[in-house]
Amino acid sequence: MALQLWETLKESITVYTGLSPATFFTILALGLAIYYVVSGLFGSSDQHHPSSRDFEEKMEPLPPPVQLGEISEEELKVYDGNDPKKPLLMAIKGQIYDVTQSRMFYGPGGPYALFAGKDASRALAKMSFEEKDLTGDISGLGPFELDALQDWEYKFMSKYVKVGTVKKTVPVTDGSAAGEPSRSYRP
Ligand code: HEM
Repeated sequence: MALQLWETLKESITVYTGLSPATFFTILALGLAIYYVVSGLFGSSDQHHPSSRDFEEKMEPLPPPVQLGEISEEELKVYDGNDPKKPLLMAIKGQIYDVTQSRMFYGPGGPYALFAGKDASRALAKMSFEEKDLTGDISGLGPFELDALQDWEYKFMSKYVKVGTVKKTVPVTDGSAAGEPSRSYRP
């Protein structure tokens, strides 16, 4: 069966190309070899991976996070992503994190853009997007809300670089915020 197929193939090669099967396959092999050598020399990065190359060109490398020290809430607002040259910052419990790498979350038009340039502790604790909760004031929160906030803080500490702290203008009643080592619970 296979032999018959092979005979038919050889016959068709001779009929259609006028070449003996041996010559035909030699030319075919040479052609393939030349194609691979030439495309390997010139085309590898341009032709085979156009998308990854374009991607690298469009994605500018992120500048290293800049330490800001202690800044006011007013100063923090400047880093809300509206100026693309500035890093995107967000604070939790008074600790400021550089979230520039997650521009798709916090940049303009992103689902969490409203948190950028702010201490969003209260909103995160309450899982709220309400304007009144976009504040670092965490007074009066319940234990579950404080737990949720703690989880967010851990997530941010492990994912982002801390670049500063927010000058406190509102009293922070929860003593667990970093930078406040002494917890004092008085009855
Ligand atoms: C229907 C409700 C929600 C859905 C389906 C949702 C979905 C998501 C998804 C898919 C991500 C990306 C996770 C990742 O890739 O790491 C995310 C991230 C995030 N979500 Fe939500 N979310 C919801 C509600 C909320 C609420 C209520 C808040 C807070 C008020 C919130 C705050 C955040 C934040 C801050 C991030 C980014 C965390 C980071 O920087 O890695 N989300 N959410």
